[in-house]
Amino acid sequence: MIEPYKDPSLPPHERTKDLLTRMTLEEKIGQMCQLDLSHDPNIWIKKRNIGSYLNVKWKDTQRLQKMALGTRLSIPLIFGIDAVHGHCFHDGATVFPSQLAMSCSWNPELVEEVARITAREVIYTGFHWTFSPVLCIGRDPRWGRINETFGEDPFLIGVLASAMVRGYQGNSLSDPESILACPKHFVAYGETVGGRDSAEAEVSMRKLRSIFLPPFKAVIDTGCGSIMAGYHSIDGTPCSANSWLLRDVLKKEWKFNGFVLTDWANVNWLHELQFITPTLEAAAEIALLAGNDMIMSTPEFYNIIIKRIKEGHINEKLIDEACTRILEVKFRLGLFDQKGVLSTNPNTELIGCILHKKKALEAALQSLVLLKNNNNLLPLNENIGKIAVLGPNADNSIAQLGDWSFGKVLNWPPQDCDVVDGHKDNTVTVLAGIKKRVNYQSSVVYVKGCDVLNPEDKDIQKAVNAALEADVVIVVVGDNYSLNGEHKDRASLDLTGAQQKLLEAVKTTGTPLVVVLINGKPLTIPWIADNADAILEAWNPGNEGGNAVAAVLFGDFNPCGKLTMSFPRHIGQLPVYYNQMPGWHGGKYVDIDAAPLFPFGFGLSYTSFRYSNLHLSKTELQKHEILSVSIDVENTGNHEGTEIVQLYVNDKYSSVTTPIKELKGFKRVNLHPGEKKCVNITIPISTLALVNSEGVECVETGEFEIMVGQSSGDPHTLKKSIFVY
Ligand code: GLC
Repeated sequence: MIEPYKDPSLPPHERTKDLLTRMTLEEKIGQMCQLDLSHDPNIWIKKRNIGSYLNVKWKDTQRLQKMALGTRLSIPLIFGIDAVHGHCFHDGATVFPSQLAMSCSWNPELVEEVARITAREVIYTGFHWTFSPVLCIGRDPRWGRINETFGEDPFLIGVLASAMVRGYQGNSLSDPESILACPKHFVAYGETVGGRDSAEAEVSMRKLRSIFLPPFKAVIDTGCGSIMAGYHSIDGTPCSANSWLLRDVLKKEWKFNGFVLTDWANVNWLHELQFITPTLEAAAEIALLAGNDMIMSTPEFYNIIIKRIKEGHINEKLIDEACTRILEVKFRLGLFDQKGVLSTNPNTELIGCILHKKKALEAALQSLVLLKNNNNLLPLNENIGKIAVLGPNADNSIAQLGDWSFGKVLNWPPQDCDVVDGHKDNTVTVLAGIKKRVNYQSSVVYVKGCDVLNPEDKDIQKAVNAALEADVVIVVVGDNYSLNGEHKDRASLDLTGAQQKLLEAVKTTGTPLVVVLINGKPLTIPWIADNADAILEAWNPGNEGGNAVAAVLFGDFNPCGKLTMSFPRHIGQLPVYYNQMPGWHGGKYVDIDAAPLFPFGFGLSYTSFRYSNLHLSKTELQKHEILSVSIDVENTGNHEGTEIVQLYVNDKYSSVTTPIKELKGFKRVNLHPGEKKCVNITIPISTLALVNSEGVECVETGEFEIMVGQSSGDPHTLKKSIFVY
């Protein structure tokens, strides 16, 4: 007779219940621990029944799982890894554009497909779980982790993050190619003061409910199976010590049935960095009581909690609840059945295959944002003649791939990616893409010219000479992994090293100047905005970034990306996100224009579009109704192109301040030259709710302005009002 927990015909909750009755206290607490391989599996698997290892090498997953399946109850490990824009810590895997880049596609279907491919490459290398997507709202570009976000708008983040979770988890977690998603970092991690990583976020409960919690509610409704708590504190309480957040809101109000993971050594930080407990023992107890179910990288937790329970200070029920959540997800994932079996082989032809690369190219193309194109300099004629390609990021795969790929390894314990130039063989740099694209009539000269960090202008004259000889000069600048990522916040967003010197020297040649940006966040580039003839924002575009940039530069693809994060003119202008609250007397600083350098939702095309005939299904609606908005969009240029129609709403008069405009809907539409289409966007009136001063979410009666335009700063935005009663 097979034990019920081993019976695949039984539902996960029954199998969990049976297994739990068979487990010792130590085995249950072991399941709550997650460590990396610096902790001996002969102890942690064989003696302590650890629940999870993270960021190991693929070949270790096979060895470790075999050890786990050889223990008394054969509970499989769940392997987690940061596969956050593709399975980037696996050499040869497909590296997609960063989240910030992909968000500029405004394409949830594409994001879902990318996540599905990532899941496939993750599962076939022995992992089951990715610590992705990031739902932090990128509102302060000084913060080091902006590249990991989907930008500054909560609505768009919710849409794209839900798509990513669907891609990872598929229709069912037990699908052979589904992996567990882990939306993070719960919540408002990007809102810490001064953009300082993991510091304090001064956010009220009302603002949490208005701005920061909604995207997470969206992914909970999508059925994500785990959530990672943030490092930071909110109004004095660290997230991993916040039972209101983890138990009252997440588990009770939202009925989240997955499990909560702390961030790396977050229990230690409660004691060592945030000083809310005098001892690690107290920190471990607070973290358990607050509702963390799995503890990342705090090995001390194991013995501390066993002791506290045996001394009668902690109720074992808390352990049963946490362990139940973890085991149920393992059963839902299929780890006790087909997925736990050691069948994966990382050398499958799937990893980095041509189909995956095709999707990476598609994602990169749709992520590119054309910020300037004076006199239609772009697209370039392929017979243009001599092209000078300059700049430190023109031929730099590590800078191009960005954070959470091999660049991370340079200052992080290497896992599968000891090779610091990983992905080199399967990454097409901007220079390589341009060289591949031009035809025999044209020639390409490359001079790096300067470094991203080193202020020496060692090769600038050589670069200027190349520009003097050229018919067009393409300068690829920006930042790199040492200026982006965890613990890498910046007090300046200016170009670093001798990049500005290089640009100004090249400008004196009078050769038409195209600037391509390879960067992990918006930078303060007013000189480029004024002096470049064309600007293409490429962010961290992944393996296929060079092919995508070349395709846009030579007109094989008409750029359609739209910014999801505002560019400040100057660091002093922050915060500069578009959905500001009203009330600023004068509306600007005395010494700088109030408008951002480039606004949220902005992006040019090689064609032009005209909006007309804004129509509302009704102008008076009740709170349960749905408003249908339609608008005609016409391609008035001579290139086929895709436009991203954006719908913003302003609550004219409200009991608490509400943003001057908020994105409430968008639609991508593809049009041939001269073609006109009627675009429809529906808005449930319930989505116009605010959180009032009592913390109650409600739609208030009154006038709302409906605005439809090409960006949050579009001067030709069409507007009409509705009245909600
Ligand atoms: C890090 C990050 C988190 C990541 C985790 C595991 O410190 O904050 O985003 O998933 O550790 O690598």
